[in-house]
Amino acid sequence: MLDTQVGPLALSNPVLTASGTFGHEDEMADWTDLRTPGAVVLKTVTLNPRVGNPPPRVVEVTGGILNSIGLPNEGVDHLLAVTRERMKGRCSALIANLAGEKIDEFSIIAEKLQQAEDRDPGGFQAVELNLSCPNLEEGGFPYAKKPELAEKAVRLVKERLSLPVLAKLSPNVSDNIEIAEACREGGADGLTVINTPLGLALDWRSGRSHLGGVHGGLSGPALKPLALYHVHTVYAATRMPIVGVGGIETAEDVMDFLAAGAAAVQVGTATFRRPHAIQEILDELPMLLKEAGVDTVSQFIGRMHQPKESAACD
Ligand SMILES: Cc1cc2nc3c(=O)[nH]c(=O)nc-3n(C[C@H](O)[C@H](O)[C@H](O)COP(=O)(O)O)c2cc1C
Repeated sequence: MLDTQVGPLALSNPVLTASGTFGHEDEMADWTDLRTPGAVVLKTVTLNPRVGNPPPRVVEVTGGILNSIGLPNEGVDHLLAVTRERMKGRCSALIANLAGEKIDEFSIIAEKLQQAEDRDPGGFQAVELNLSCPNLEEGGFPYAKKPELAEKAVRLVKERLSLPVLAKLSPNVSDNIEIAEACREGGADGLTVINTPLGLALDWRSGRSHLGGVHGGLSGPALKPLALYHVHTVYAATRMPIVGVGGIETAEDVMDFLAAGAAAVQVGTATFRRPHAIQEILDELPMLLKEAGVDTVSQFIGRMHQPKESAACD
């Protein structure tokens, strides 16, 4: 009943982890079964290691948290030599999340992943591209904000890697439909909607931000209406396969995202407070699908976009 399909990617259930919120490797195995989520999505990895932003990196705000982590990671060679080996076969599906600090790095990273898959297939089932990563060639302007950059990043990966590619959109844009269309042009198999919108939490007495990186990304329940808006509008315009993410805490939230057009969802911040959140959601979801009168997830995807039955005439 719970299996779903995101373009070519088949998943045993529609509730995935969100990148950067479920450890870097298998840390969460102490808390929860790694096979429970439909897929584990790893933290963003760049070509070269990054140290990330100065602390503090996370602050609580009303309705969620702001984070300014700065993509610390050990680089793609570590991902392939260590993380992939450690995680292979332990999750229902494993998705690498990738970003290039320069546009050509997307192709180098993709090539390295393909070589690893050619040597030893089945390490990853898909990749997600973090298009919110700053592009150092354009003064840190993220790929997700310019259609031509988003398209090129996706294309560079698709040309070199045979795995399904999900392009992760940013809410920090005026029109996500043109970015989504650009990602489709580049060959994206689906979209992850959305990454965190930028915010600020400050202490007016000291005149300082609560975060070392000054601005941060907002996540948690406050994000849900914004994320649903992006899922709804992008699905309505493109009908592309969508993984919805932003503020999901409960099975009711998941149903909202499916109805708006998502084929699967990711849960991030909720797992910080409730490490078993995904299991709890999965326990309740079949009952809600039954209440909706459907036997499968796919029957409910985009329910909100179906024409309403005309009122019965007597
Ligand atoms: C601490 C933290 C780190 C994150 N790191 C990444 C990351 O490395 N790559 C990425 O694509 N998204 C990252 N995100 C964004 C999440 O994947 C997700 O899009 C966002 O948190 C919204 O979902 P949520 O409200 O369920 O947390 C991060 C979010 C948080 C809170």
